[in-house]
Amino acid sequence: MAGAPDGQGYFLYHSIGQYPGKARDMAEGMARFSEVWGRADDLQWPYALGVRQSYIDRWRAIIGAPEGTVTATESVTAGLGALIGALPDAALRGRRLLVAGDCFPSVHFLLAGLQDSRGFTLDTVPLRPGAHWVEDEDILARWGADVGLALLTWVSSTSSHRSDLGPLIAHGRRMGSLIGADITQGAGLLPFDAMAPAVDFTLSTSLKWMCGSPGAGMLHVAPGLIAEARPTLRGWFSQPDPFNWDFDRFSYAPDIRRFDHGTPGIMAAAASLPALDWHAGQDKAAILAQNRALSDEIGEGIAALGLPFVSPRAEAARGGSVMALLPGDRPAPHVIAGLREKGIAADARGRTLRLSPGVMTTAGGVAHLLRTLHGLLK
Ligand SMILES: Cc1ncc(COP(=O)(O)O)c(C=O)c1O
Repeated sequence: MAGAPDGQGYFLYHSIGQYPGKARDMAEGMARFSEVWGRADDLQWPYALGVRQSYIDRWRAIIGAPEGTVTATESVTAGLGALIGALPDAALRGRRLLVAGDCFPSVHFLLAGLQDSRGFTLDTVPLRPGAHWVEDEDILARWGADVGLALLTWVSSTSSHRSDLGPLIAHGRRMGSLIGADITQGAGLLPFDAMAPAVDFTLSTSLKWMCGSPGAGMLHVAPGLIAEARPTLRGWFSQPDPFNWDFDRFSYAPDIRRFDHGTPGIMAAAASLPALDWHAGQDKAAILAQNRALSDEIGEGIAALGLPFVSPRAEAARGGSVMALLPGDRPAPHVIAGLREKGIAADARGRTLRLSPGVMTTAGGVAHLLRTLHGLLK
């Protein structure tokens, strides 16, 4: 198998998901789009907007969200920026915005930069000394009635720790906070229901377990919050009818379309829809069972190699990845390059080796990974 990128040794589902036939499906989807777009007629927009709506509807099915509550965004960061920009001033001014220290850095960068203009204090729940993730109970302990909004990271990208959203959301409701969930690392692998327990908004991209393309983000906003939202980034597509061009008659659409603005960028939806269609046809329980079985094998191998775990050992507290700490005297880039030479795709953040088995990964691939790691680390 060495050197053959057949997917058996592919462990990057936390980064870019792959499935057999992805390149072909994507090429066909893009070719279809190009063919329609390049035709000298006037039928481009019905097709392009239909593709975008199909993309949105696939996402609605993944998170169980009703019609009119999901739209496409460029990224998680862009979706969060749009959401914060749409909130009434009183939702945040003089209040805390709660986030955990193991959230995705990009959302922290965004929120930290918005504190002054929106008048909130960003409160980051720290990791305990020596810990690799933030404990749910530490988030609960810090979550008082002065929290205007809490952004929960369902599955952490640096440990694959999976928060137990139920108790967190129940507590947040008692505190009267707005609650959002970044589901990027779990969406499409682990079941998620935006309605039970209900969140106010949900953010993700299509890149990981759904195997989509860059630029294909998703923002879900619950109807009650949509009604209060006044997106600052607005335009003709925020209206019930984009073809109202009367300067004095702007109005927001009654549903999630108010979060749209200029001419929608369709390309990422067109590039990702074939993968989302593929994903919709899969046996989700089987995909998860395969991930769990291979994760167990990786976990046992990591333990046998004596590498400290960065991920929780308990399956219920873990997303789709197994992460381990590389020895200080073996630089991670060297280890990753050594794996690549043997046809194994993985990555590292600092000393943390990240391994995420998905639909193309096999037990043989895991055995090859563990043998190769043994050779590189001895
Ligand atoms: C938890 C989490 N949130 C968000 C993102 C991506 O954010 P963005 O789409 O803004 O780049 C990632 C990417 O790895 C992630 O792991």
